[in-house]
Amino acid sequence: MSPERRLLAGCWGVPLAWDASIADLPGGYSDAVARCVTSYEQGIEPNTFVLMAAAVRADQQGQGTAAALITAVRDRAVAAGLPQVIAPLRPTLKTRYPLTDIATYLTWTRSDGLPLDPWLRTHVRLGATVLAPAPASQTITGSVDEWEKWTGMVFPSPGTYTIPAGLSTLTIADGVGTYTEPNIWVRHA
Ligand SMILES: CC(C)(COP(=O)(O)OP(=O)(O)OC[C@H]1O[C@@H](n2cnc3c(N)ncnc32)[C@H](O)[C@@H]1OP(=O)(O)O)[C@@H](O)C(=O)NCCC(=O)NCCS
Repeated sequence: MSPERRLLAGCWGVPLAWDASIADLPGGYSDAVARCVTSYEQGIEPNTFVLMAAAVRADQQGQGTAAALITAVRDRAVAAGLPQVIAPLRPTLKTRYPLTDIATYLTWTRSDGLPLDPWLRTHVRLGATVLAPAPASQTITGSVDEWEKWTGMVFPSPGTYTIPAGLSTLTIADGVGTYTEPNIWVRHA
């Protein structure tokens, strides 16, 4: 790829059927993937695009690329017959507040009224509204050895630990580490 055409950002999502109510929202990231697959297997027509993740090249961050990315993906989803666009977004600043409940965290705003979290702020600026917290969006379990490898830490005793880049804490019990990641459901206009 020539330097003029280098990859700047990537984004992916899944289609599913959602009745636009809070009660019918998937539990979060994992549940959205599961529902997408089961809906497909059952022949249920999707009407919603779930934006699962987005990433911008490290040397390109902070320049508004994400807004262009989300807008382009949202427009494509609508053009493809998925008029509802939602996301279980991973609030990037939550890593600094792993002990705070996600339902509380999502209410935090700056003096200008916009969300304190920069990633949530980007979505809200693009017209998204906050739907609900997803306190158990994704649960990751592994042996203590695995968690020591993944985090670069050691876990000498059972207990609760803060971990690098964690949005919540890791619990070690009976030789198993369990981390449950909280996300925030938003809906794009
Ligand atoms: C989150 C991410 C996609 C945002 O992309 P981006 O193009 O940098 O986004 P923007 O330039 O629109 O910046 C959005 C906000 O985040 C802030 N921001 C961007 N990069 C940042 C960084 N490295 N550190 C702190 N804040 C940052 C910007 O200042 C902006 O806040 P503002 O409202 O005060 O202007 C990008 O940082 C990324 O790829 N991160 C790693 C993957 C990830 O966490 N993805 C999101 C969850 S799936």
